[in-house]
This record gives sequence, structure tokens and C-alpha cells, in this order.
Amino acid sequence: MNYCITGLQWGDEGKGKIVDILAEHSDIVVRYSGGANAGHTVVVGDAKFALHLLPSGSVRPDIICVITNGVVLDPDGIIKEIEGLKERNISLGGRLFISENAHLVLDYHKKEDQLLEESLGKNKLGTTIRGIGPCYADKVGRSLAVRMADLADLELLKTKLQMIIERKNKIFGAVYNAEPISADEIFEKCKTYADKLLPFAIDTTEYLHKAIAGGKSVLFEGAQGSLLDLDHGTFPYVTSSNASSLGMPAGSGVPAKMVDKFVGVVKAYSTRVGAGPFPSEQDNEIGQRIREKGNEYGTTTGRPRRCGWFDAVAVSYSATIGAIDSLALLHLDTMAGFNEIKICKAYKIDGEETTFFPSNTHKLSRAECVYESVPGWAKEITKVKDFNDLPKNAQNYVMVLEEMTGKPITIIGVGPKRSETIFR
Ligand code: GDP
Ligand code: IMO
Ligand code: MG
Repeated sequence: MNYCITGLQWGDEGKGKIVDILAEHSDIVVRYSGGANAGHTVVVGDAKFALHLLPSGSVRPDIICVITNGVVLDPDGIIKEIEGLKERNISLGGRLFISENAHLVLDYHKKEDQLLEESLGKNKLGTTIRGIGPCYADKVGRSLAVRMADLADLELLKTKLQMIIERKNKIFGAVYNAEPISADEIFEKCKTYADKLLPFAIDTTEYLHKAIAGGKSVLFEGAQGSLLDLDHGTFPYVTSSNASSLGMPAGSGVPAKMVDKFVGVVKAYSTRVGAGPFPSEQDNEIGQRIREKGNEYGTTTGRPRRCGWFDAVAVSYSATIGAIDSLALLHLDTMAGFNEIKICKAYKIDGEETTFFPSNTHKLSRAECVYESVPGWAKEITKVKDFNDLPKNAQNYVMVLEEMTGKPITIIGVGPKRSETIFR
């Protein structure tokens, strides 16, 4: 069986936990989009891992990890992650493969990200400053792009980097009045990247097709969330890749038809980091309570996440565009203690009610939520193993979410650990 796991909200739904769990029954885990803007948490016993580029299957010693063409790879970041896991006695030798076509995020991309964000002041997007937008922009622009395969010809790369960095420095100076960066320093770093990363470089498209033909099961791990999708999210407050499952075929070279099940990951409420419309946001003590109980602080940047009620309009939309078969609902435990829980079941926009998420962000920013209230429960549920042992109101909340989204909820998270999971 091949699975694709994607987030259906604005990221941080708990994809890392679900991928880690489903990896037990997979041979290969694939990261196909985004870059080190992702922060996927896996908790195994008392050990916690925060992964940014390595697939979340990497903490299981027998899983093959593949990073495909759709990912923008921060070489410093991945080297640090590989070495970090090694220090914890987890080796990736012989089981990590990186696409020769993955684009490299170099220091000037991070600098450009930071300079642009700073210069925008209150109009900034609130990016992770990981150089994601500038790197994907160079990919689309083509002439200034650097890919993994370019590390194999250092002489050619040297000339190319000089040409690229000369242009970047002109922009840094003229637009931002910023210091130039040194092409020589970046080239020296690229020599190290070549030494450390080329041993992992392969044609991942060929590898995955042969593996699937040979009967291997592949788990595709989405990054970010569908509402951050470049084309289908809340543009411009999105990331620069197709973060919904629509990005999986282009990002990996494996057609969606070859995936047996698309699993959407959601939290029992909503969160968002960075700017952009968020209709069910609770910028008040309800949001504060969710943030504290759910520990809603960014895995990558440590920023406090904006919190709000579950938005069934947004999730239904993501599930529709993502061909989602079933949902994994995480953080149900975080909702314990509320007398009343609200769910956004429709939007009122300019006086009209709709249950379809508007693709026009201006329209979305005028949306007011129409809520349905359900009774909450007091009891902590982290130790519950069986759906029928959950408080009746918790069971009811899950069933109402199933009805509103039209999708079965087959996995429920009641805590961050592997063991704190209910299967239905
Ligand atoms: P990802 O980016 O989608 O992988 O999610 P993150 O790792 O950024 O954020 C999810 C956070 O919630 C992490 O700290 C997880 O350890 C934690 N988590 C995952 N599932 C649950 C759950 O069911 N309950 C609680 N309390 N925490 C969870
Ligand atoms: P995971 O995979 C949550 C958000 C940023 C910002 C916007 C653009 O852990 O769910 P970028 O750096 O990509 O240019 O930032 O997207 N963002 C995420 N939010 N989880 C993520 O990843 C995110 N990756 C990017 O906060 O609003
Ligand atoms: Mg995250």
C-alpha cells in the first residue's frame, strides 16, 4: 500500500507523528515538497526529534528515506540533521537518497528572504526566513538556479555562482543597502556540500518507480498544510510550493494514481503561524488556553501559533482538493476542559452564507464564521486507548467533525507520543 499524508490546515497538524506511526508498515518514506521551513515532531518514548528536511521515517532505523525533486534542500540544514541523528545513534548511511534535481537553498536565499521580510514591515508575510521563497523563485526563473547535480562539477559551479552572486549583490546593495556576500565563501561551502551530500544523490524518480514495481510500500510525507498551498491556499499568505497533496505527483515524479490512500491530518482546533486570514481565530483567552494546553509554539521558529476553533469549511475544502480518503485527528486531548466547543460550519461573506472555502483571499478576509456549539468534557483523555472509552462528549465531537467534513476519522491523537493514539 502507498500512502500520502498531508496537512489540511495551515501546517503543524501533527504530520510527523502520523508519518512515524504509519512508517511502521512502510518500506520508504518520501519528502516531496517544501524545505527546512517544515518542522515535524516525532516523539518516541521520552525521546523527541524535530525534523526539518529528513523524512519523519528517519528515526526508524530500517526505513529508506527519500528526498525528491520538489524539495528545496538547505545543505547546511540537512548535514546538521544527519549528524544530529548520528549523535543519537541513528545512522542514515545507505538508506538516505536525495534527488539530483532538488534545488539548493544557499545563504543568499536566506539573506534575500530576511531582507525582503524586514523591508516590508507590517506587510510582511511572516515567513520562516529559511530562504524558501527566493529559492523556489530561482527555480521557476531557471537561469540562476543551483541543483544537487551541480555539486558534481565544481569548476562549472564556481563560474555559475560568481555570475549569480554578482547579480544578487547588486540587488542587495541597491534595494536594501545591505552588505554584499562573498561568492568565494559560498563556493568553499559548496565543496563541503559536495563531499558530504553527493554520496546520497540519485535519480529518485527512477528509484521510486522501480521500488513500487518491486512491491515496496511508499509513504509520501507532505510538508506545510493545504491552506498554505501556493496555488490553492490563502495567497499571498502561503508558502512557495504546492503543499496540498496536489504537489505530490509533481514533487516526486510518482503519479497520484499510484497512491492507494490519501490521509489528511488535522488538529481538533486550528492554528496558523505568520500573517494571513484565519476566520475562526480566537485572539482572546480561548486561543491562549489552546496555545498553552496544546504547546502551540513553532517547531522551526519557536513563534507562538495563532489558535482558534476547528474550521470545517476550510478542512472540507482541503479534503476535496486533496482527494482525502480519511482523517487523522490530533490533539483531541487539548480540548479537554472546555464547557462548550465551537465548530465553524459555514462562512457569512457580504451577507451570504457559504460552506465552500473561497479561493479569493480578499473575500476570505471578510468571512465571519457561523458556529455550531457542542458540549465539552472535563476528563483528561491522554491514557485512553479505545474510542468507546472516551467521554461521550468527546466521542460526539469526533462524530460531529466527521459529519461536517464528510470524511471518516480513523486515527485520533490523545498526546504527542506514539502510544497516545487511538485507531478506529
Ligand atoms: P507537523 O509539522 O505537522 O509535523 O506538526 P508539528 O510537529 O510542527 O506540531 C505538532 C505538535 O503537536 C508537536 O509538538 C507534536 O509532538 C504534538 N502532537 C502531535 N499529536 C499530538 C496529540 O495528539 N496531542 C498532543 N497533545 N500533542 C500532539
Ligand atoms: P510544517 O511542515 C506552519 C508558514 C510560515 C509563513 C508562510 C510562508 O511544520 O507544517 P515560508 O518560510 O514557507 O516562506 O513561510 O508559511 N509555514 C508554516 N507554518 N508549518 C509549516 O510547516 C510551515 N512552513 C511554512 O509561517 O506564514
Ligand atoms: Mg510543524
